[in-house]
Amino acid sequence: MRRFVIIGQTAKGSSFSLEDLPGSSGRLDVLLRCAQAALLVSHGLRRSTMIYLVLLGDPEAPKTLRIDGRVAEYLRPDERSFGGRVRTALEWATTSEFAAERQGIAVAAGGLELVLPDLGITRPFVLEEGSADIRSALLDPSEVTFFLGDHLGFDPLTHSRLIGFGATALSVGPLSVHADHAVTLVQNELDRREK
Ligand SMILES: C[S@@+](CC[C@H](N)C(=O)[O-])C[C@H]1O[C@@H](n2cnc3c(N)ncnc32)[C@H](O)[C@@H]1O
Repeated sequence: MRRFVIIGQTAKGSSFSLEDLPGSSGRLDVLLRCAQAALLVSHGLRRSTMIYLVLLGDPEAPKTLRIDGRVAEYLRPDERSFGGRVRTALEWATTSEFAAERQGIAVAAGGLELVLPDLGITRPFVLEEGSADIRSALLDPSEVTFFLGDHLGFDPLTHSRLIGFGATALSVGPLSVHADHAVTLVQNELDRREK
């Protein structure tokens, strides 16, 4: 399984407006684009990808949304309808485990402390500008996890937790790109290695 974990420092899981996603959701839109980049291909879904969106900016509590490409259904490429689907799903986030799985979407009240044990045995990497080039890294395209920051990057505490988890830093190129573009570049690199 390919896994992507996006850490949204300001992203909110409740009470945002679909009319103004970037302005009302603490930039949840950045995370939604990452989910789309990870899971969607032309006319289809990547069945071997799972994505976690960790929303740390909610006034109630952190919330995490997990989408499992193996069983996901009806994921639309337009941000508004995807945002609506995510908003409805996040209303179920009341327990500290990924319990309410519907059409591949599960949610939980909690953040990284729930995600790390859920990953199982995997090789973790943190995507970080200025680190070692992904093209020279040894990667198993079928069992790997990548952690990404949002528009603000990583906060120092999260970064040190990821390093403590054993994640190795990799970069996708010389420029700082948008998080969803970094996801696309990684998927492309893994696709090339799998072929
Ligand atoms: C828009 S960037 C964050 C920029 C933020 N201003 C900072 O200084 O960290 C969002 C995320 O995309 C990933 N990213 C962007 N460019 C990258 C690169 N060249 N190599 C690896 N990851 C990258 C990182 O995970 C980053 O936290």
